[in-house]
Formats: sequence, structure tokens, C-alpha cells
Amino acid sequence: MKVLVVGGGGREHALCWALSASPLVDQLYCAPGNAGIAKLAACLPVGAEDVEGLVATALEYGIDYVVVGPENALVLGLVDRLCEVGIPAFGPSAAAAALEGSKGFMKDLCREYGIPTAAYGRFETLAEAKAFLDTQKLPIVIKADGLAAGKGVVIAETRAQAEETLADFLSGNAFGAAGHQVVIEEFMEGEEASFFALVDGENALPLASAQDHKRVFDGDEGPNTGGMGAYSPAPILSEEVEEQVMREIIEPTVRAMKERGTPYKGVLYAGLMIQEGRARLVEYNVRFGDPECQVLMMRLRSDLLPALMASSAGQLKSFDLRWRREAAMTVVMAAKGYPGAYEKGTVIRGLDQLEDDPDLVVFHAGTKLGEKDEVLAVGGRVLNVTALGWDLGEAQKKCYAALAKIDWPNGFYRKDIGWRALKG
Ligand code: AMP
Ligand code: GLY
Repeated sequence: MKVLVVGGGGREHALCWALSASPLVDQLYCAPGNAGIAKLAACLPVGAEDVEGLVATALEYGIDYVVVGPENALVLGLVDRLCEVGIPAFGPSAAAAALEGSKGFMKDLCREYGIPTAAYGRFETLAEAKAFLDTQKLPIVIKADGLAAGKGVVIAETRAQAEETLADFLSGNAFGAAGHQVVIEEFMEGEEASFFALVDGENALPLASAQDHKRVFDGDEGPNTGGMGAYSPAPILSEEVEEQVMREIIEPTVRAMKERGTPYKGVLYAGLMIQEGRARLVEYNVRFGDPECQVLMMRLRSDLLPALMASSAGQLKSFDLRWRREAAMTVVMAAKGYPGAYEKGTVIRGLDQLEDDPDLVVFHAGTKLGEKDEVLAVGGRVLNVTALGWDLGEAQKKCYAALAKIDWPNGFYRKDIGWRALKG
């Protein structure tokens, strides 16, 4: 089969890595890919959000199956368009991708189906939003309704900050149309974890558990990022919690989407807040987490492709996946300055010496090949050093030993990935 992966980050490198091991895949393509992906797949110069360009490319190359990594193209209807031209694809339709594309849609669905999540209100005018604010406690969470590249959430500690954020979002200055509606919600205490399930419109198959570190600095301090590291399994997702999440969150959501005539297919990623052994939903994403996907792919023993295809084809009912017993960890190496401004084009050396250990993979996120085939850093999150170990402690040791060998003076990484799980 000819398979095309859409995207060019660490998540897509991990997906390409897993797919390249499938005996079903004859030719692997990635659009646009990166320097690491280029070793596994033919990289095609089409942007991950260029829906029409991607459809034309898939037709031109005779692609049999498309795997969509990031959310934007899903929300823009890439899977619908591919379906129209007869190319099956992994991921939800635009209507189903609203679970991530509109926070208000997701919250209304939770209310209607009794899915545990933070109490909230939805507003389009500043006056109504402020009136609601008066009835709420601090801190309070303010979210732009639409996609805002992970920047549309503010946890306001003061009323002044809350009002400023509302004015900023609702004026359209911060995120344009994505901010024209806001959700104001209760601040939830607890520990966050990521829960993934493959969904085929009707059935949901939970994946291995994972947890990421969103804050940029050690000790989970500093601004939020896309994720500075992740590990699997996540001890906080005990069997009881997983069972509760399936019963109270995932299954009702799958049922709701089917009843609305917009069945959900693809991977459903529930961001959870866990307190005293009970999980509540923070948000839905309609894609794999990044960097959680990297650790999941390291632990997946089964062939990934049939699982993704079963999701698209509505055939997950009797599907099973096998996972390695070992633990996996990934540590993100980012460009100094991230998540703020950072330099692009600096050279990364020393990656070749990390290629011999089968239990260690450096997934590339923001890289490209330079004119002399050198690896250049071109993004904020740049490398994902990922290892398997008998337990998380061993995986962590391997990650940090490998990081010490990478020669990239402009890079930095957290030194404490996994601390919650390892504190014993
Ligand atoms: P989201 O984009 O909705 O995942 O929000 C980004 C981050 O903001 C989450 O990962 C949480 O750390 C935090 N967050 C969002 N909503 C809440 C909430 N209601 N209570 C506490 N923290 C939240
Ligand atoms: N790691 C968080 C995310 O993918 O949104």
C-alpha cells in the first residue's frame, strides 16, 4: 500500500516510524515531513493545512490511505474531501472534529450527556461575560472557542486579568474568529493525564496510558507549552480510573456523536483532571497528543496500520492491540527561548552516534536538512529523545544519557521528566 502521513512534527515522525515497520506499507510518504522523517518516508512539499493541495497530491501519487497528524486539517475537512475523491483516511470528519475545534460545542455536549467536566458559560459579548464573571470564584479559566494553537486558554488569578483576557479574546485581536466566542469555566484542581482511544464511529478501544509535562521549566514551572516530555504508562491512570473514563466520558461521547449524525472516527484524546481517583474532562483533542504519541508508538507491539484502518472502516469491535510491558519516556529538546521567540537555523550535531540502540529513537519535531545534509533546528520543539526501559527509571536514564551526547548549544531540555511517576 501507498500511505501518506500528513504533518511534520515529532508525532508524525513517530507515526511514520511505526508505519514503516508495517509489512502492509510498500511506500511511505509524508507531507511536509522533516529531516528525521526523510529517512523513513518520501517527503512531499505540501503544507499540513493545505487541504486542496493535500487532496491533489494524494490523487497524483495514487495514495491508498492517508493518516492525518495535526488538528487543523481535520477541522478544515481534509478527511471529508479525501473521502469525496475515494481515498480513505484516518481521522474525524470536520463535523466530528468540532470536539476540538469548538470548546463551546464540546462543553454543550458534555452538559447534554452528563459527562463530568468543569462548570461553564458561553458568551459572545463582553457585558454578558462580565456579568457571569461576577458570579464566579477565582482563579477562573477563560478559553477562546476555536483553535488557537494552544494559546487560547488563560487561567486568570485576578478579576482584572480575567476582564482583560475577555476583552482581548472577544475583540478578535488575539485570535480573530476563533475568539469571537469564549467559554468561561471553573478552575479544576488535580493532576492532569492524557487518555487516548481509537474510535470507529461506534466502538472505542482504549490505548496505553500516558502523561505529559506542559510547563516549560523543571518542577512544572513557567509558561505552558505543547509538552516538554511524556511517559507511558502513567501510574495515575489506574485500572479503576481508566474504567471510569471509558464509561463516563469516552463511551457517552461516542454515543452522542453517533446520535447527532456526526459519528466520530479517529483517535479521541481526552485531556483529564484527576482528583481523589476520579477524572473529569478538561478538553478533547481529535488527534494524537504530541509528545504522548512518541511514547505510545515506542510501546505499541501490534502493527499500527490495521488498527488505524479499522477505525476508519468501522471495524474496531473485536480489535485488540498488544503493548510492550516496558515503559517509555520522551524528553523534548527545544530551542532556547521557546515557548517565546527563538532562533532558527542553528546546527545540531551528534545524532548519528545515537542510531544503534533499538530501544532509543530520536524523533525529530522542528528540523530540516541543510545544504550539506546537516540537521538544522527550525522550530520551537526540535527533538524528542525517546527510550524504552524495564521501568520508567531506566527509560529516564537512557533518555538523559542520550541527551548528554547531543551537541546543540542552542537547545535546552527539562531535567525532571517523569518526576511525578518516579517520586514513589
Ligand atoms: P486546553 O487547551 O483546554 O487543554 O487547556 C490548556 C491547559 O490549561 C490544560 O492542559 C490545563 O493545564 C489548563 N486548563 C484548562 N482548563 C482548565 C480548567 N477548567 N481547570 C484547570 N486547568 C485548566
Ligand atoms: N501534549 C499535548 C497536546 O498534544 O496537546
